[in-house]
Amino acid sequence: MEDVFIIRGGKPLKGEVLLSGAKNVALKTIIAALLFDSKVVLKNIPRISDVFELVHLIKKLGVWAEFIDQNTLEIDNSALQNNKVDLLHASKIRASFLLFAPLLHRVGECFIPNPGGCRIGERPINRIIDGMKELGISVEYDSNTGYYFAKMKDGPKRGYSFPKSTHTGTELLILLSVFGRGKILLENAAQEPEIDELIEFLNQAGARIERHGRKIAISGVKKLVQVKPYKIHSDRNEAITFAALGVASKGDVVIKPIAPELINAFITKTKETGSGVEIISRGAVRFFYKSKIKPVDVETSIHPGFMTDWQPNWAVLMTQSTGDALIHEKVFENRFSYVKELRKLGAKIKFVNREVENPSEFYFFNHSERKRYQQAIKIHGGYPLHGGALRIADLRAGASLVLAALIAKGVSVVIGASILERGYEEVVNKILRLGGDIKKI
Ligand code: EPU
Repeated sequence: MEDVFIIRGGKPLKGEVLLSGAKNVALKTIIAALLFDSKVVLKNIPRISDVFELVHLIKKLGVWAEFIDQNTLEIDNSALQNNKVDLLHASKIRASFLLFAPLLHRVGECFIPNPGGCRIGERPINRIIDGMKELGISVEYDSNTGYYFAKMKDGPKRGYSFPKSTHTGTELLILLSVFGRGKILLENAAQEPEIDELIEFLNQAGARIERHGRKIAISGVKKLVQVKPYKIHSDRNEAITFAALGVASKGDVVIKPIAPELINAFITKTKETGSGVEIISRGAVRFFYKSKIKPVDVETSIHPGFMTDWQPNWAVLMTQSTGDALIHEKVFENRFSYVKELRKLGAKIKFVNREVENPSEFYFFNHSERKRYQQAIKIHGGYPLHGGALRIADLRAGASLVLAALIAKGVSVVIGASILERGYEEVVNKILRLGGDIKKI
């Protein structure tokens, strides 16, 4: 297997894209299903390799999990017994540390390796471990084995206030607080819509979780029982990739189903470029090229800001603009792996310094005065892209390289197709349906 996309670019892409279920909801609901006292049926689960890795991981814990049709996964956790999570498979997916919740709930103690995922920064879990301790769980890390050992100690305390936002950290603390007698309050909790979907899924099964802005209150319940199958909403990261493709290729793409408010920050910025955005209905949005694309700066942020996962796609769009655009990354400290690859296609991009008054408050990662960071780039638009050989380093960078190759005149070879397939379902077929010229070898 070559693990390569061969792309002949330069054509406007046109048509409709039926979006897949969200990776970052699918993974979390599969893990949350292990807390239930009933079988769980999840619909619209994308067939992507991160999901396959996770299914493999939970099967090794004794859980029964099978696709009963193309995108419906059934999970029965009644035989869950093993409390040590497989190192190899856990190291491939970031969400694996959420397994603390079901294993502590069902077995009382567990061994979980340091989580994996895309190498887009150091990605420590200090805030999360502190939060677990505040909830009455003892956690120790063994640097010889790379495993955390966690044990339920006194049972949940009153709550935790996150020093800085963490998306998966908020999800783990919710899952750890679902059962019990008291009320747990999480403060300064993250607000990503994927978290609210997890809450919706749990509440449908009897949980009592309420959000008031950045506060989440969880009243303990005795058990979770699924009353009807749960259908995962569309992936807003996949949505953005195809939206950017529609505009940047001088084409016209309708994405659906998607609630426009979930991608509001992207819609606003795209309108500022002078490109066409039409909300066709509550569930479909059209993105199309109108005339010259104006350069527009973005600064990434937590929800409801411009999402970090979208900026690699934005960079490609800005290579097609008429001037200079700046991207300032605030959430992760290593999310520009695509820059040197885009340069191979003729893109003019340079790293720039942006002075920030109080960096440890401004950035969402743990900023250190002793380290040098490269958090901003300037893209000089107006240089046509040509074909080249590219290498994917992480998932969202991978989407941007495929996007760039589809816009570039000539043939490109994009190495690392399997990294993109960690999070994008049927990507080749979706591009072919829009008239793109792509094959995987
Ligand atoms: N952080 C810490 N300590 C912690 C937790 C987070 O320093 O204890 C730092 C992170 O290293 C990062 C920042 O805080 O610099 C924000 O991290 P957060 O915990 O919010 O991100 P995450 O949960 O690791 C999830 C998604 C990412 C997405 C971000 C932002 C999953 C599995 N991952 O990451 O998705 O970019 O939230 O919404 O849900 C992707 O799908 O490709 C992806 C990377």
